[in-house]
Amino acid sequence: MTKGIILSGGWGTRLRPLTCTLPKGLIPVVNKPVIERQILLLKSAGVEEIVLAVSVMSDVIKNYFNDGKKLGVKIHYTDERHPLGTAGAIKLAEKFLKDDNFFMLNGDVIINFDFNEMVKAHKKYGGIGLIASKIVDDPSRYGVLIVEEGSQKILKFLEKSEYHPPGENYGPTLINAGVYLLEPEIFKYIEPEKKLSIEVGVFPKLIKEESMFYYPISGVWKDIGNPEELLEGNILLMNDIISNFKSQNGNLIHKNLDVEGKLKIHPPVTIGENVVIRKDCEIGPNVIIGDNVYIGNNVEIKDAVIYNEAYISRDVKIEKAIISDNCLIHDGAKLIGNNDNLILLSSYVEVLEKVNLIAPSNSSITVCHHEIVKEYTIKDKI
Ligand code: GTP
Repeated sequence: MTKGIILSGGWGTRLRPLTCTLPKGLIPVVNKPVIERQILLLKSAGVEEIVLAVSVMSDVIKNYFNDGKKLGVKIHYTDERHPLGTAGAIKLAEKFLKDDNFFMLNGDVIINFDFNEMVKAHKKYGGIGLIASKIVDDPSRYGVLIVEEGSQKILKFLEKSEYHPPGENYGPTLINAGVYLLEPEIFKYIEPEKKLSIEVGVFPKLIKEESMFYYPISGVWKDIGNPEELLEGNILLMNDIISNFKSQNGNLIHKNLDVEGKLKIHPPVTIGENVVIRKDCEIGPNVIIGDNVYIGNNVEIKDAVIYNEAYISRDVKIEKAIISDNCLIHDGAKLIGNNDNLILLSSYVEVLEKVNLIAPSNSSITVCHHEIVKEYTIKDKI
């Protein structure tokens, strides 16, 4: 029976300060932790047992998922004191995965496709592994696959820094999507208790032995390694969910939304449970609001993700921002990012009355958890 392992033990440094209080795997994507979405997708393809390869903030992940019963799967955990890299991490799960092939997922990708298609493709091509792949316009942040024309064989796997197209002109390129189907023989290529990256230390050897194949996946795929990708991924998945369910005029709004007076909504917008929105607000497009959020009079929000339990007071404007749980934004504050640079507030941040956080063109504004922002000028380092 095919099982699954989800890597959820990295530091998530590129997502700081969002990952200072929440491990990357529990970061909400359209109001559900990214690895919860992966677990449910694996379950829908018939996977019943999943290992979470945890390390950094492992207790927080264990407390959230426990034994998996609530999600209808059996969850095991590895015991990885310090991050051992993507190969070292799965070696610790060998005892759970030694009997049959298994899915391995990077816990920071948003995906929505049928895993059964990968099982069928793996049966057809054979080999030790199948790498899910996607074509992207800018491959500079990903591992690149060089493949044999006319077959599904991978000839070379180039890590980010190793891929240099002629003239450094990047065009549509096949990349590693961070989702694999592997045979247990792979464990023979990994030494126990040694830090090792599967992409650097294992795949190149298997490719030399002509034992790795690729499978182009359809549907939504987004790596949420950095904040801009996290915002884009939320919007992408929201649009996908909305189009599949043909829901509520292009929005996903919980039925117990409490609105006082006039509210303008520009789709797509997601609103969680127990949200209160006061008079004359304008929400959207591209806004995801979590549970138990209060929004005061005359607030404008667009292109933003607001986690649970935020309190946003009157006359506030938020644009191109990610606001973590339990933040408190006082009257008249303005939090405005731009396409390349977001406003990022970690958990329990308080932004005082009429403070303007406007991202400059060359850097994001990030605020660490529990900070109180009293004023801000571009020179300030918050
Ligand atoms: P950055 O520090 O921002 O690069 O993030 P990261 O450390 O999470 O690394 P990366 O994005 O390359 O990791 C891809 C996936 O593998 C993520 O889901 C990580 O949680 C996971 N991961 C990375 N390194 C380890 C590790 O050493 N152990 C475990 N268990 N998981 C890991």
